[in-house]
Amino acid sequence: MSEKTPQGAATPTSKNTSASENAGVVHARIDSLNAGLESLKHKSGQATRILSGVQSSGRLHIGNYYGAIREFVNLQSQGEALYFIANLHALNSVRDGAKARELTLETAAAFIALGVDPAKATLFRQSDIPEITELYWILGTVVPLSDLNNAHSYKDKIAKGAEPDYGLYGYPVLMAADILLYDSDVVPVGKDQKQHLELTRDWAGKFNRQYSAELLKLPKALTRDETAVVPGTDGQKMSKSYKNTIDLFGTDKEVEKQIKTMKTDSTAPEAPKPTENQPLYDLLKVVLQPSDFATIDAKWRESGGTGQTHGYGTFKKALLDGYFATFSEPRKRYAELMNDRGELERLLKLGAEKARGYAGPVISRVRAAVGL
Ligand code: ADP
Ligand code: TRP
Repeated sequence: MSEKTPQGAATPTSKNTSASENAGVVHARIDSLNAGLESLKHKSGQATRILSGVQSSGRLHIGNYYGAIREFVNLQSQGEALYFIANLHALNSVRDGAKARELTLETAAAFIALGVDPAKATLFRQSDIPEITELYWILGTVVPLSDLNNAHSYKDKIAKGAEPDYGLYGYPVLMAADILLYDSDVVPVGKDQKQHLELTRDWAGKFNRQYSAELLKLPKALTRDETAVVPGTDGQKMSKSYKNTIDLFGTDKEVEKQIKTMKTDSTAPEAPKPTENQPLYDLLKVVLQPSDFATIDAKWRESGGTGQTHGYGTFKKALLDGYFATFSEPRKRYAELMNDRGELERLLKLGAEKARGYAGPVISRVRAAVGL
């Protein structure tokens, strides 16, 4: 199976060469993640517990896939993986019950359609785990307010106009509880979440000291490097807040529009195209198979002297073809899952039972120590 196909998102094995070396940025990153994971393995040979979550706060885009979900798929066979839909965190931004419920299921369907296998990884919904809010409160009793005042993500969101509600302020405490509840060893996260992991470790350490026991396990962040940021159609980081996304599960028409209306410059069709600050070029690099990218790269750099002319429309078409080649199957699977809510619910319930199995001993330890 191709190394770029979500369903087969197994560990990429080969190193690419020449032009396709460029296209291998994300693969190289996964290789380095694997190396990182290797060094974090338990000395005892016990499986490494990997945990991560994605908020169900909007439509998923290809940045979420290449930046997070693909890595979850890759990591699920390398240890005991727990992945969850952070629908309690999402309440900070989604203020419509029906929509919140729908987005939770959409996010679950997306995980599975893109290759998270509920038979390998424990996939669950945050709100199905009552222990989470209990640990959140208990942990909060040792959290210094100064840490929350200094949290970058809170300050950034307020600076961007979010209301300074308590939920947003307490967000890092809930995230820390998410992580600590399952004795997680490693947490794959984007760089923006690194501070949350540091806070998690600080608070777990303080909690352990206050109760003079190793009650909570200190997790390690597995961070992605900067090169793995997928650009949006306008050249900024792809993000649902910037309206510059290529959606994973939009209609064919919507996706076509997102790609066809991408920002390009006025280089003439017969001239070689610049490769710097070109979101179209960067996205081709991320989405196309390495060999297809090598062909496109050659065309991109070709000048009219060769008798060939290629306008940006040709390259947008290539991106669209690459998108469908990669995501057609997951899109089909996603539609099937969304048409079978009962099956999705069943899978999430099973996942929650498994997750609560991991959480049980931790919350019992904590309850006993604090006197509940
Ligand atoms: P958004 O910026 O669209 O709101 P989120 O913050 O909800 O996305 O991110 C969910 C996950 O997807 C996170 O792990 C984040 O690091 C990853 N992610 C989001 N956008 C990108 C991107 N443009 N490139 C790489 N990874 C991304
Ligand atoms: N804060 C994370 C994000 O926005 C989502 C999240 C919530 C999370 N709880 C977590 C990630 C626990 C890792 C571990 O991407």
